[in-house]
Amino acid sequence: MNTTMSHAAINGDAARAAKGRPGQATAPSGCSEPHAGGSVGAAPPVVYGASERPPRGDYTRAGADYTCPQDYDSYTAADHDTYRRLYARQAALLPGLACDEFIAALPSLGASDHIPRFEDINQRLRQATGWEIVTVPGLIPEVPFFTLLANRKFPVTDWIRKPEEFDYIVEPDVFHDLFGHVPLLFNPIFADHMQEYGKGGLKAHGLGACEQLSRLYWYTVEFGLIQQKDGLRAYGAGILSSSGELQHSVQSPEPQRLPLDIKRVMRTRYKIDSYQQTYFVINSFQELFDKTAPDFTPIYQRLHGLPDIAAGARPAEEEVVQH
Ligand SMILES: [Fe+2]
Repeated sequence: MNTTMSHAAINGDAARAAKGRPGQATAPSGCSEPHAGGSVGAAPPVVYGASERPPRGDYTRAGADYTCPQDYDSYTAADHDTYRRLYARQAALLPGLACDEFIAALPSLGASDHIPRFEDINQRLRQATGWEIVTVPGLIPEVPFFTLLANRKFPVTDWIRKPEEFDYIVEPDVFHDLFGHVPLLFNPIFADHMQEYGKGGLKAHGLGACEQLSRLYWYTVEFGLIQQKDGLRAYGAGILSSSGELQHSVQSPEPQRLPLDIKRVMRTRYKIDSYQQTYFVINSFQELFDKTAPDFTPIYQRLHGLPDIAAGARPAEEEVVQH
């Protein structure tokens, strides 16, 4: 894959993604180096997804680690208004669907009527968990992505979608990255998990296991569900920043919801052009941390050669989580 895993596309009614950073909604398909081409600054552009089209974003702004200053002066009144409207619509949907920790931390992003300055958020975030957000021009490759996470730095794209992309955008933009991902970085356990994920990603890269790890990222950080005292809730950024998938993931009878099983997740393909057919459910962030803390090397070895599981494949009936 080229970019990093994770970000999937998101935020629209369909969470599609392309192969993006491990953290972005997309799924990476491998561990290949980013494709360099076109105008190259210190950081080469990244090929987005399976297509050959160049990624969105001006990579000439980025340094060797793919970070750059937030280009705050470039935001127009329309950009701020897009953020305001996205935030207002999504925040209104959260009660009863988003996890308690996310709802509690959301105000830490600051004002909701304009795109925040990342440095203002960082003053609160550093104090809360020692994390900070850094600006990137768009999707970035796996190794830089993992390296940032391992150092408690979360890459956030600074540009925002155009008004005509209000309901759907392929690549993650500032709304997906900020609204979807950053609130849970204020939670100490989740924050520690993200750092461990970065360390694990660097190890997976060396072992040729990025595809397996990207599936874990996809089904947890991007599309994870959590069972809480008042019922099932969403904690994945791809869900939380999507107006349509939020309700679908938590309440629709269509998808199946399985308990988080690391090996099962790592074998399960996922959809990048529709709502997920399968969600994996945790009971606490501590469970997520504990299940992902072990060295995955033996798991990668065990999975080697085993067939993938289709995104919507139904397991034995007893695996299905009732809610
Ligand atoms: Fe994401």
